[in-house]
Amino acid sequence: MLKTICYKSQTNPVLTLIDFEALFNQTQQKNNNNNITGVLVNKNDIFFQILEGDSILLDAVYEKIKKDHRHSKITELLNKPIKQVCFKSFDIGYSVINDTETLYSLHRFVKTLQDNNIENSDFFFKIIESLLYEN
Ligand SMILES: Cc1cc2nc3c(=O)[nH]c(=O)nc-3n(C[C@H](O)[C@H](O)[C@H](O)COP(=O)(O)O)c2cc1C
Repeated sequence: MLKTICYKSQTNPVLTLIDFEALFNQTQQKNNNNNITGVLVNKNDIFFQILEGDSILLDAVYEKIKKDHRHSKITELLNKPIKQVCFKSFDIGYSVINDTETLYSLHRFVKTLQDNNIENSDFFFKIIESLLYEN
C-alpha cells in the first residue's frame, strides 16, 4: 500500500551549513534507495517535508525522523493512504529545496498537480504558497 506523510518542524538552531548539507545528502541517498519520493524544504528555521512511498517503509522512516535531534516541534499535517505517488516526476523523485527559486518551481509543479485534480494537491499548494510568502 502507498501512503503519504507530511509534516512541519523547527530546525535545531545549532545546525551548521555542513550539518544541513549532510542531512540533505543522507535523506536523498536513503530515499532514492528506498524508492521514497517527495520533497524536503528548508526555509529559515522551518523544515517542511512531504514523503510518499510504501506505507511500511515510510512508517519506519517517519519513526526515525520523529526522534531525530536535528529538529523539534514536529507538526504532522497529513498521514494517509494514497492511490498513486505524485512527486516522482518532480526533479529526481525526491529533492531537497533550500532556495527560493526551487521553491517557486515546486509551486509551479504542484499547481499542475492541482490542475489535474491529483489527490492532496490543494493542500500541498496552500502550504507551499504560505512558505513562499511568509518571511
Ligand atoms: C528534517 C529531517 C528530515 C529527514 N528526512 C529523512 C528522509 O526523508 N529519509 C530518511 O531516510 N531519513 C530522513 N531523516 C534522517 C532520519 O531521521 C535518520 O537519521 C536516518 O533515517 C538514519 O537512519 P539509520 O539509523 O537507519 O541510519 C531526516 C531527518 C531530519 C532531521
